[in-house]
Amino acid sequence: MTIERFDPLSAGEGGIAAYHAVFAASRETDRPGEPVLPLGELAGRLTRPLPGMGEAAQWVAYRGDELVAFAEVHFLDAENRGIGLTDVVVHPAARRSGIGTALLRAVLPELRARGRRSVEGWQVVAGSAGEPWAEALGFRPVRTIVRQVLVVAEAERSRWDVAVPPGYRVVRWKGAAPDGLLESYARARAAIHDAPLGDSGFRWPEWTPARVRAAEAEARSQGLDQRIVAAVHEGTGEVAGFTEVCVHPRRPDWGYQRDTAVLAAHRGHGLGRCVKAHMIRWLVAERPGLRRISTTTGAENAHMIRVNRELGLRSLPALIAVRQDVDALLSPGRRRA
Ligand SMILES: CC(C)(COP(=O)(O)OP(=O)(O)OC[C@H]1O[C@@H](n2cnc3c(N)ncnc32)[C@H](O)[C@@H]1OP(=O)(O)O)[C@@H](O)C(=O)NCCC(=O)NCCS
Repeated sequence: MTIERFDPLSAGEGGIAAYHAVFAASRETDRPGEPVLPLGELAGRLTRPLPGMGEAAQWVAYRGDELVAFAEVHFLDAENRGIGLTDVVVHPAARRSGIGTALLRAVLPELRARGRRSVEGWQVVAGSAGEPWAEALGFRPVRTIVRQVLVVAEAERSRWDVAVPPGYRVVRWKGAAPDGLLESYARARAAIHDAPLGDSGFRWPEWTPARVRAAEAEARSQGLDQRIVAAVHEGTGEVAGFTEVCVHPRRPDWGYQRDTAVLAAHRGHGLGRCVKAHMIRWLVAERPGLRRISTTTGAENAHMIRVNRELGLRSLPALIAVRQDVDALLSPGRRRA
């Protein structure tokens, strides 16, 4: 077995296809029946990670000439500079021969060189091989992530007919928030801080108007169709809650649900359900090719999970986020994060 850095820019079509083949085979084993990220979208993300993911680096393992595994690290930025978000994936036919462990060890020096104190993995499917593997390496589970998906063709559309609660109006936009709402929208975005993160070291961004504008510019530069539906409080003219969905240009059939938050003072009026229902109706009306909207939520977040279920989303097997200190992985005597 040999392990080396993988440069997506010089890998060529064959190299990218071999990388994607490992990804697809692994997903078919661990997430059976779920559509696999298409090759073109994976290739795009290798060189240009999604907004908020920081820079990426990849390593691959060969058995003979055959690419059988990869590790991808995202060097999260801003509040999350201490974390190396790491995904290790071994082809099902090459598992249990030490390749996953060897790949993880190969990325550690770079993590340390870039000042990362902890390794987190957010893609371990509950009940899959990833769980005992992570445990064997001393990782501890820090968060359970519920996955839900709206399959548009199967949905009962009447579930999306949700009235706007009295005292509020719905405002929606693509890309940049209207100047007049920017400040209160940034405050509403900060309400995501109330969403539970378990024991993950991840921290939500400290939203300010400038950071909202920077995130909008990043989404624009990647050609994302970024949509926001906000509930504005009639009395104050301020954003009380919002939801965000992005559609990526290379994957027009898929909506990625991003943050949804309602300011504490406005909770309990059904605003979360209202903005999400409005978003689904808007997307489905304007993007007839849209087949799925996928979302993830912390398992403790019972309200959000119930709202999603009421809107017709169904659950997929949960993901477990795991965490371990880089130093503990470098010195096998120390086990626990
Ligand atoms: C998790 C994964 C990377 C492990 O790769 P691997 O090369 O098979 O792992 P290793 O051979 O290095 O396993 C090391 C130890 O982990 C444990 N382990 C790994 N897979 C296991 C399984 N299916 N059942 C029980 N223990 C397991 C064992 O203790 C193993 O040591 P052993 O074989 O001497 O008993 C691989 O199963 C995979 O790609 N899964 C899908 C993606 C994923 O979940 N990645 C982890 C999140 S980052």
